[in-house]
Amino acid sequence: MDVLGVGSCSKRACHGSISPVEPTSGQNPPPIRRDEYITWTAKDVHARAYAVLHNERSRAIAKNLGGEPAHQNPQCLACHSTPTLAAQADKFAALVEDGVGCEACHGSARKWFAPHTSPTEWAMIGADVKERDYGFAMLDDVARRARVCAGCHVGSPPDEPHGVPARDANHEIMAAGHPRLVFELAVYQSFTPHWNDRRDKEPTFEARAWAVGQAAAAQASLELLAYRAGDAKQPWPEFAEYDCYSCHHGLKEPSWQRERGFAGRRPGSLPWGQWHLASLAIISDHVAPLGPEHRKALDELTRLMTRTNPDRDQVKRLAAAAAHDIESWTGKLAQVTQSPQSLGVLLRALAARDRSATVSSWDAAVQHVLAVGAIHRAGRRDEPTARERDVETAIEKLRQQLTFSKSHESPAKFQPGDLFAPLERLHQLVRDGTSGTALEGKR
Ligand code: HEC
Ligand code: HEC
Ligand code: HEC
Ligand code: HEC
Repeated sequence: MDVLGVGSCSKRACHGSISPVEPTSGQNPPPIRRDEYITWTAKDVHARAYAVLHNERSRAIAKNLGGEPAHQNPQCLACHSTPTLAAQADKFAALVEDGVGCEACHGSARKWFAPHTSPTEWAMIGADVKERDYGFAMLDDVARRARVCAGCHVGSPPDEPHGVPARDANHEIMAAGHPRLVFELAVYQSFTPHWNDRRDKEPTFEARAWAVGQAAAAQASLELLAYRAGDAKQPWPEFAEYDCYSCHHGLKEPSWQRERGFAGRRPGSLPWGQWHLASLAIISDHVAPLGPEHRKALDELTRLMTRTNPDRDQVKRLAAAAAHDIESWTGKLAQVTQSPQSLGVLLRALAARDRSATVSSWDAAVQHVLAVGAIHRAGRRDEPTARERDVETAIEKLRQQLTFSKSHESPAKFQPGDLFAPLERLHQLVRDGTSGTALEGKR
């Protein structure tokens, strides 16, 4: 077995130090904290990812699915523990119980464990060799990081050479009771830090993480779509591909959906790509171009997926090709360092978006607010100015309006019209930034 388990990382002198190591001044890059294991156990939800498979919600999901208990179901274990262990859970029970352990993200340690304990030896090995020959995931590369997270937070087809099963949270398990997956890298990584964040503190890192995270999530979703379309055993059409709340909403009169119109779709057809593709156009226009032929292919796929019963072979082919295009684009996006000026331009472009299109669905509205938030924070100084604080307040207000009420796991009260005024306030603040934007004024 290539997985050694969290226990092998937890020694005090390794990653189980009670208090973090402080860098001495001028150390660049700063040393690792050595308290990563303690942080993971105490603060990281991944440490209880296996345990939740025993909770009431998981028991209800398993009951609805009618198979084995959740903690023995390989489909659940593929994301709630180290993926390569899912198929042999009974043999490696102790490792599976670690939940999403160190090696689920950093790579199975059998080959890299010994060399990485000798810092001088490890430092002499190149990044690509660490990846290829040792199976160590270079997570400081934000594109690599985003792909690792997306593997579980979006899903992925099986990767047989590496022993990774399919990770697919499809509509069947959602209808059985699984929460919907809505991944956005900039926000999600801020909830799980056990690393020395000074390593990420290039001033505009959050903007880079946002753009790369959007592209990597789109890529993962397209690879998953190609798998869903190509495997005749999977349900089709797969409802989890579509905007959940286009089906799951009460019929009201008057109806904002009919007032909004169907944006070129036939009334009643299924809106596809609302979450994962929402920000690609603006990233392509203002960060690095995706290429007109690739965007055309995505439009074609969108038209195809909007049909009642899309042709599986055609979808498989187009989705696989689109995922491939986006993979190389993600690599390019990871190399772009934004300047305060280019961030200002991007922020103004976001503020200039057509307000009806921006809030045409809950997914689109949330992605828009996440985008403005990430770009705004990327350019912020440590002590926010009064205007920066006003922008944050405006974002927070929209965030609250978009949050589900306690009794619902869907936006039951969502009305695009209610968002126009607070959105206009946010956009106004962004447009009015002194000397263009605060971002540009400060450096
Ligand atoms: C594609 C990966 C994937 C698969 C497959 C998957 N899950 Fe999850 N699950 C997640 C992620 C990611 C979250 C956290 C979602 C979030 O908050 O963004 C989650 C959340 C949950 C939660 C809510 C967590 C809580 O604190 O109560 C439960 C319960 C759960 N999963 C059970 C299951 C069960 C049971 C199965 C198998 C039938 C399963 N999961 C299959 C990825 C997956
Ligand atoms: C959910 C994914 C995930 C899990 C689980 C995880 N890590 Fe990490 N880890 C990361 C990411 C992302 C980084 C940042 C990458 C970087 O800067 O090199 C990181 C960074 C680190 C670093 C570098 C610290 C620094 O200061 O730069 C160490 C050491 C580390 N992790 C150890 C562990 C250990 C030990 C465990 C298990 C107890 C663990 N990680 C579990 C994702 C994860
Ligand atoms: C092996 C699968 C796997 C990988 C890889 C993974 N996660 Fe998770 N993640 C999960 C599961 C499962 C949960 C739900 C755990 C629970 O609720 O107990 C989760 C939960 C989370 C949550 C909490 C969400 C919430 O609603 O509270 C955050 C944040 C998160 N992950 C961030 C990340 C980031 C960032 C990465 C990449 C560096 C990553 N994850 C990689 C499986 C994974
Ligand atoms: C094409 C329409 C359609 C789409 C899109 C769709 N669903 Fe469903 N969903 C259904 C139908 C039909 C049922 C079965 C309802 C029943 O049995 O009463 C269902 C059942 C459910 C249920 C269980 C019933 C309930 O109300 O609790 C949940 C939860 C659910 N879906 C969540 C989702 C999520 C999350 C998404 C998006 C990822 C989604 N659905 C997308 C049509 C859809």
